Amino acid sequence: MILRPYQADDYELSREQMTDPDVVKYITGEVLSEDKLAERISKSLDRSICGNLGIWVLIDRETQEKLGTAVLLPTPENEIEAQWSDIDLTTISPQAKIEVGYILTKPAWGKGYATESCTRLIEFGFEETPLEVIWAVTDPENTASQHVLRKSGLQDDGQIVAYKEILPLFKVTKYNWLIAKQS
Ligand SMILES: CC(C)(COP(=O)(O)OP(=O)(O)OC[C@H]1O[C@@H](n2cnc3c(N)ncnc32)[C@H](O)[C@@H]1OP(=O)(O)O)[C@@H](O)C(=O)NCCC(=O)NCCS
Repeated sequence: MILRPYQADDYELSREQMTDPDVVKYITGEVLSEDKLAERISKSLDRSICGNLGIWVLIDRETQEKLGTAVLLPTPENEIEAQWSDIDLTTISPQAKIEVGYILTKPAWGKGYATESCTRLIEFGFEETPLEVIWAVTDPENTASQHVLRKSGLQDDGQIVAYKEILPLFKVTKYNWLIAKQS
């Protein structure tokens, strides 16, 4: 699998993801209208260009098929979504609340791609950025995603108010990641 930054011609990938009721079940809860889709894509492009943290597209190395997206982005805590423009990712602090996430298109489910992308982004986060901890949140019922997080080395860490909901929180510290890597 190849990971490269999200770009304008990934519009159809976003449409495939965000108009599939099964894919959005634990994300937006409902498929996106054309207006909401355009808004999301515009935001995704803003978030992709920092060249550090952001949004990546997952591509099958052999077929060049787009499999989905994965992110390292600020967690929108409490009631207010983190405004991308407020956050300078070039000087990100080691304790910044950055979460890992992934959205695969349905044909790509069940083939290990979520675990592979999550593992790679955690490695990137700890090797290529100053982050000392990486977070994740899921819908309480998204047991497949929770399984992916635990397999990727994150541990349950209580609950958090994020995306305007109380959600299970997962974390991995750089220290624990290094210990696991050596064993
Ligand atoms: C959740 C999602 C990312 C999983 O992707 P995936 O590529 O199928 O994940 P993987 O193949 O890497 O691993 C899935 C693991 O979960 C297990 N699993 C699948 N469904 C499960 C379920 N309902 N409950 C618990 N575990 C489940 C699989 O057996 C597999 O574990 P294993 O490798 O130990 O057998 C994918 O279904 C998806 O993109 N869903 C829509 C978007 C989404 O919900 N994203 C997460 C937001 S937090």
